[in-house]
Amino acid sequence: MCGIVGYIGNRQAFPILVKGLQRLEYRGYDSAGVAMISDKGNLNVYKKKGKVSDLLDFSKDKDKSGTIGIGHTRWATHGEPNDVNSHPHYSQTKDLVMIHNGIIENYASLKEGLEKRGHTFLSQTDTEVLIHLIEDIRKHEDIKLGYALMAALKQVIGAYAIVVLDKNDPDTLFAAKKGSPMVIGVGNNEFFIASDASPIVEYTKNVVYIEDEHVAIIRRGEELKIRTIRDKEITPYVQELEMELEAIEKGGYDHFMLKEIYEQPRSIFDSMRGRLNSETGHLKMGGIEEHETKFINAKRILVIACGTSWHAGMVAEYLFEEYARIPVEVEYASEFRYRNPIIYSDDIVIAISQSGETADTLAAIELAKAKGATIFGVCNVVGSSIARATHAGSYTHAGPEIGVASTKAFTAQVTVLTLMALHVAKAKGTIAESRYRQLLYEMETIPAKVEEVLKLNDSIKKIAAKYKDSSNALYLGRGYSFPVALEGALKLKEISYIHAEGYPAAEMKHGPIALIDEAMPVFVIATKGANYEKVVSNIQEVKARKGQIIAVVTAGDKDVKGMADHVIEIPETDESLVPLVSVIPWQLLSYHIAVMRGCNVDQPRNLAKSVTVE
Ligand code: G6P
Repeated sequence: MCGIVGYIGNRQAFPILVKGLQRLEYRGYDSAGVAMISDKGNLNVYKKKGKVSDLLDFSKDKDKSGTIGIGHTRWATHGEPNDVNSHPHYSQTKDLVMIHNGIIENYASLKEGLEKRGHTFLSQTDTEVLIHLIEDIRKHEDIKLGYALMAALKQVIGAYAIVVLDKNDPDTLFAAKKGSPMVIGVGNNEFFIASDASPIVEYTKNVVYIEDEHVAIIRRGEELKIRTIRDKEITPYVQELEMELEAIEKGGYDHFMLKEIYEQPRSIFDSMRGRLNSETGHLKMGGIEEHETKFINAKRILVIACGTSWHAGMVAEYLFEEYARIPVEVEYASEFRYRNPIIYSDDIVIAISQSGETADTLAAIELAKAKGATIFGVCNVVGSSIARATHAGSYTHAGPEIGVASTKAFTAQVTVLTLMALHVAKAKGTIAESRYRQLLYEMETIPAKVEEVLKLNDSIKKIAAKYKDSSNALYLGRGYSFPVALEGALKLKEISYIHAEGYPAAEMKHGPIALIDEAMPVFVIATKGANYEKVVSNIQEVKARKGQIIAVVTAGDKDVKGMADHVIEIPETDESLVPLVSVIPWQLLSYHIAVMRGCNVDQPRNLAKSVTVE
């Protein structure tokens, strides 16, 4: 986690750094800091516990001049969030400062060695150890900073995206990465460094994604130079960004989360655009077509993901098993990678990740790759580490998702996974042509149906007002609606800090039923489908114990209406596509409850959007 930014050029660095940090706050927001070499040649470092806005207040009356600088927004790993542990960190002489995203796993042994050589440390961070090491090598081997940096990085075990600024060299920035993301914007006689492209897009669309173990040497007035940490020269590959500036701004909404919820008709449509043609029955999935035989012959699909992406993976399990008749196992990446899993070379692994940077998912991919499996990525961020680590993939086209709680990325993932399952089913011949066509037609209607659900916002807000003070909540669903129950519960706990659990509705009898009383809201998906009657019985079981039922039902439903305390009617769709529509009320409900409880919706406590540490 953590966000890093850097600037060198002719403009004042501070406003660019701060704006960039605000764009990256989704990556961590427990402290923030900047360092600039001022117009008078001083190295000014300002850092503060709290948000970037706290840093702005803190630095209000200070000298913020300078055309070279670095900045950091932190999600604490080593050392609690406080001013001292905030980045940038100094070297022993205070000549060098560094920002870092990642974890130096062997920092303790490196620190011990440095302490023996007389180094003293101000913070508890692993980052401070690395910048001391770089300086130590520079001094003892009497080599230039770039070489010292390469030598130090050869000793590092772990992940890093770092930028180093030298007080005595106001014309150079050194940046390097391994495991954590880094992109450099190449402007007109100016360079921008950031964890992702969002701080860069308003200045230039020309970017270079830095590869692992590469060091960028960024000199004022010179071309960008890249070398490996083993000092081999690399030619920078400049790409053009497709991102638009308005996609990363709030556009009149109070929160990014609300904006992103409302963007779903569009983002679902965009994730199908150019792929699905219900008139011709054509479903174009480039990545799958390249590996079609492997998909057709696969004896098993392993899905690896974390968080909301894992929930999308669960929907994929139902889809692939039902339509393509391929057994699917859905794995938490963090568990999978550490339990010596059985992976066959004819396995297909589908790795799902919004950010494309989740450390556990990335490590699980590498493990499966080493065992010869074919890895297919479903990522939202173009050019992200996971997108690059996979053999093939299909991007979701949700656009940048900034709210920490994932919304439009989930529906985009489910959209793409549905298309994938249908494509494979068709290629395998496990789905009847008429059913296949019917599902393609139905998929095309989903954006309009989501639009209909969004019109229920006011009534959902009223329900939110009623349950905003709950301490617990239960979310139930069966079949395709079970993953949505998990996702509904996750949304509520993430942003409103109400304890919530998602459960398969029938499994409620084996535990959660003991918790039900008049204070317990139970959010149920009871749309028409194979399990409808069974869910109705589960609702009755809750009502018999005086629980409060808030049910998402198919438009026109009468039975549940008679029993539930509140119903939210959603347009009818095919049972296997219901998650795309039924998740929307749960997203809106969590949003309103969190706002009413005064919580920070876009930046919930302790969470980060991109979890680049394991
Ligand atoms: C974090 C985010 C979640 C996200 C999860 C997986 O926990 O807060 O919203 O679902 O990471 O992230 P990924 O980028 O791999 O989908």
